[in-house]
Amino acid sequence: MSNGVHIAVMTEEVIEHLRPHANGRYVDATLGAGTHTEALLEASAPGGSVLSLDVDPAALKRAGERFRAFGGRWKGVEANFRNIARVARENGFDHCDGILFDLGFSSDELADPGKGLSFTVNGPLDMRLGPSANEDGLTAAEIVNGWSRDELEEIIRMYGEERYARKIADAIVRARQHARLIGTFDLASVIRSAVPRSYERGRIHPATRTFQALRIAVNDELNALREAIDGARSVLKPGGRIAVISFHSLEDRIVKQAFREATDLTRITKKPLVPSQQEIESNPRSRSAKLRVAERVSSRT
Ligand SMILES: C[S@@+](CC[C@H](N)C(=O)[O-])C[C@H]1O[C@@H](n2cnc3c(N)ncnc32)[C@H](O)[C@@H]1O
Repeated sequence: MSNGVHIAVMTEEVIEHLRPHANGRYVDATLGAGTHTEALLEASAPGGSVLSLDVDPAALKRAGERFRAFGGRWKGVEANFRNIARVARENGFDHCDGILFDLGFSSDELADPGKGLSFTVNGPLDMRLGPSANEDGLTAAEIVNGWSRDELEEIIRMYGEERYARKIADAIVRARQHARLIGTFDLASVIRSAVPRSYERGRIHPATRTFQALRIAVNDELNALREAIDGARSVLKPGGRIAVISFHSLEDRIVKQAFREATDLTRITKKPLVPSQQEIESNPRSRSAKLRVAERVSSRT
């Protein structure tokens, strides 16, 4: 995964459920490496169009070259998907036929040391996915070096679902009394020192959950997702579908609840779809993916 080649997950299932058709208009709210965008463009040929959003300028730059051949059928915009309604309207994609969210970060971003997302590649403790990922410019370095022990414990527990949140928060506070934590390796070694040895032998690296927590806090990911689903509902036309792929239970819970509570959505998947065994074997990153799909009905309350 850290070699930077992002493999999209559940592409077949996404296409099967968004049912792209010629002349349809689709929004890919998370462009990434562009595999889902490309699948939408191909499945909606010859006249369908796709608007792709991403907060990461590097994703847009790569896609500009990749999708040049699709001409006016493709448009990419650097934007936070929490503003999806405004961005869709500004680009003529309100009243669209389908919207996809494939949440989280791409392998390209994970491999980029400058983003500081990985504990296996040393980089600055930044963790912003892009300049518009948050409004206040908050970085992971500011959180770990500036927030109180209780605040650290709370986000590590809440966003990382980390059972050693208290121990890790304590260790961070102790470490920063000696020197500011600057790099991802610094933080990873503080975390490793705080947790029991047995945790190191577990299925995931001991820093996984804390890094997830910091990334969620820095990018305000859960609020962005709630706002994005609301915004997406407002620009979907009746019969249009929204598909969301999530990678951890906090996100999936938000999607599940939003779909259940929205009076203008009907759930197409009552239970989330998961990748086939074959996909999990060929792309281990897909193992935690869950896909939920809903359809816009005409009533608006
Ligand atoms: C899992 S990747 C998407 C991969 C993509 N579906 C593909 O086929 O390659 C998630 C992407 O969403 C972007 N992203 C994350 N949060 C975002 C947000 N709030 N607004 C817009 N893009 C976001 C990330 O920068 C990343 O490129």
